[in-house]
Amino acid sequence: MLLLAIDTSCDETAAAVVKDGRVILSNSIASQVKEHADYGGVVPEIASRRHLESIVPVINEALRQAKVTLADIEGIAVTKGPGLVGALLVGVSTAKAIACVRKLPVIGVNHIEGHLLAAFLEGPVEFPFIALVVSGGHTHLYRVDGVGRYRTLGQTLDDAAGEAYDKVGKLLGLPYPGGAAIDRLAAQGDPAAIKFPRPLLHDGSCNFSFSGLKTAVLNHLQKQPRAGDEGSLANICASFQAAACEVLVSKTAAAMAASGIKRLVVAGGVACNSGLRRGMEQLAKEQQLELHIPAPLLCTDNAAMIGVPGDFYLTNGITSGLELDALANWPLDTLTASFEGVL
Ligand code: KG4
Ligand code: ZN
Repeated sequence: MLLLAIDTSCDETAAAVVKDGRVILSNSIASQVKEHADYGGVVPEIASRRHLESIVPVINEALRQAKVTLADIEGIAVTKGPGLVGALLVGVSTAKAIACVRKLPVIGVNHIEGHLLAAFLEGPVEFPFIALVVSGGHTHLYRVDGVGRYRTLGQTLDDAAGEAYDKVGKLLGLPYPGGAAIDRLAAQGDPAAIKFPRPLLHDGSCNFSFSGLKTAVLNHLQKQPRAGDEGSLANICASFQAAACEVLVSKTAAAMAASGIKRLVVAGGVACNSGLRRGMEQLAKEQQLELHIPAPLLCTDNAAMIGVPGDFYLTNGITSGLELDALANWPLDTLTASFEGVL
């Protein structure tokens, strides 16, 4: 099946053409990062307006790169949630308009489901697996038994990992979004220079907490007037990254051990992080795990990943119909419950 996939959940306008939910024919993205950078974070109204300007050119670009036209497309998958409602509505309305005019089936996909199945675009992954989804809005550990069959094992109790990276980046005066900037600076610093806390490391749960770690960085900055110097900045970044990654890796290790599952997927924007990738590779080596971390372009927001579950649902006759709406919050466990007796 040849699918047009669309994602406008946050600040990237994305469209892709995906064949059989596995082969990327195109993956087009218009980033708004520069426009939000002046505000130090995503401004919802600006995001919606930029999506409105970019959505048609981005879809046309995806079709052009894939060397197809709308006449070749057999179905549409669009992110329904979670995300910024005003942003989501642009993608959802566009998908519905195309579906209506071209008489195509349309399916509303969960953005987090897209992240955790993005690895399928690089090769086969067998079920079950444990997935760590780390993005700007999520830090969740899931057990995945099939498409549409997800169980939350743990999650952040406050900030998401990406949110913590971006907030610390802001404290350090780094450009938005701070995640990638901290990662780059961390490479030049000493991860043992400052002993930042490892929140909830030994609480026996699979939950996370990052707000205390962020406050520890703030306290350090207030106590050390020279903390903004180049060398100290790199040390703060390296030490913060060491603390964040140690918690992410060790909680994932605990979830793997408790489930007895030896297959791990790491997904979402923070999965681009070099420290996290190294930590997970080390864990996989030590515990002989099968590890899947997609290439960075498939970890951050993109539409190709929406095509993976989209293809599965449409080929199994599950469609959304033109009453499809956007959802700001949409936990994966709710999605799984809705498929009880269907999948
Ligand atoms: O998945 P994503 O593109 O969008 C959401 O669904 O949130 O994730 C964006 C998040 C941002 O917080 C960004 O700072 C973070 O991923 N990020 C990183 C890196 N690259 C992106 N965080 C740490 N290290 C990176 N290299
Ligand atoms: Zn995302």
